[in-house]
Amino acid sequence: MSALLFKNGFASDNHSGIHPQILKSLTHVNISHTASYGVDPLSESLNAQLADLFGDDTEGFFVFNGTAANTLSLKTLLNTWNSALVADMSHLNVDECGAPEAIAGIKLIPVKTNSEGKLTVEALKKHMIRFGDQHFSQVGCLSITQPTELGTVYSIHEMQELRDFAKKYHLKLHMDGARLPNATEFLQINFKELRKSFPMDALSFGGTKNGLMGAELVLFWEDIYKRNFRYIRKQTMQLPSKTRFLATQFLTWLENDLYKDIAQHSHKMAVQLKQSLDNFSEVKVLYPVQSNAVFICFPKPWTNALKKSRFFYIWDPDLWSARLMTSFDTTQKDIEDFCKTIKTLSHSQKEVAP
Ligand SMILES: Cc1ncc(COP(=O)(O)O)c(C=O)c1O
Repeated sequence: MSALLFKNGFASDNHSGIHPQILKSLTHVNISHTASYGVDPLSESLNAQLADLFGDDTEGFFVFNGTAANTLSLKTLLNTWNSALVADMSHLNVDECGAPEAIAGIKLIPVKTNSEGKLTVEALKKHMIRFGDQHFSQVGCLSITQPTELGTVYSIHEMQELRDFAKKYHLKLHMDGARLPNATEFLQINFKELRKSFPMDALSFGGTKNGLMGAELVLFWEDIYKRNFRYIRKQTMQLPSKTRFLATQFLTWLENDLYKDIAQHSHKMAVQLKQSLDNFSEVKVLYPVQSNAVFICFPKPWTNALKKSRFFYIWDPDLWSARLMTSFDTTQKDIEDFCKTIKTLSHSQKEVAP
């Protein structure tokens, strides 16, 4: 049945399954009884591993999804009279159904991004107004997505510029790292180096898009945030119980560099996809391919046939652009089949052309 209903596509890394090693680890720990709610031995090992990778004082907290990781991060860092600066196209602003406003009770300030979907000091500067004015929501945080929603990666220098800017205005720093290893692998840096360039107060550290299942973490370094988050998470119904099954997924992913292998593979496949698409004059790749996303413009009449070959979503209906995402299980055959369909469409278009 699965062969009939399921087929690899380029819709999202959320469409892919669980990485076989991760799935195996779930069975492995499916024995006997152990403590729950994050005090099981595996969750404790995971915290040791996180401290190793991200530096002393790191503590990770499981939540069920990336929306909760982002929204509850902001709820922990800010008061309700604060606002957070976010990219106009960020998940926080566009895809969280107003959760940051409804659940965190804070105001988001969507800031225009540059041609690569990145926030810049220039664009942020104009929002640095009315500090101390009791009539105005006080800017308290800068949140960036790394890699960005367009699949591009902030360079070390760009992160440092944003860090320095935030420091000048005493802003807290949050990072949406739903696909973070794709960024660190692209930059060839480790997580400690990442923190040096962008010393976030809270990190949404995603697992689900990288081969895990329903496993997301929020990382904090300051005691006050670690303490408050426990209560905030429970009140907002994001405290999981059988945490050994979440911990084992993250441990398996982080041990033996599986997270790096997955990021490298999905990036390699995205680059191959881009290079194959570059052969077609009718297809335009829109942004630098720095993680696991390739954005393209293509002839609108091709849409149904292309989607049938390998499913994807239209990103911008005005531009008629699509986001093609690769995953830990994307194969060369997926790319070849997709390009074969493009070739056929391209030939038939040339045949009917006057
Ligand atoms: C950049 C980014 N952040 C966060 C999320 C988390 O979303 P969810 O709440 O669906 O797990 C997503 C999911 O698509 C995303 O792309």
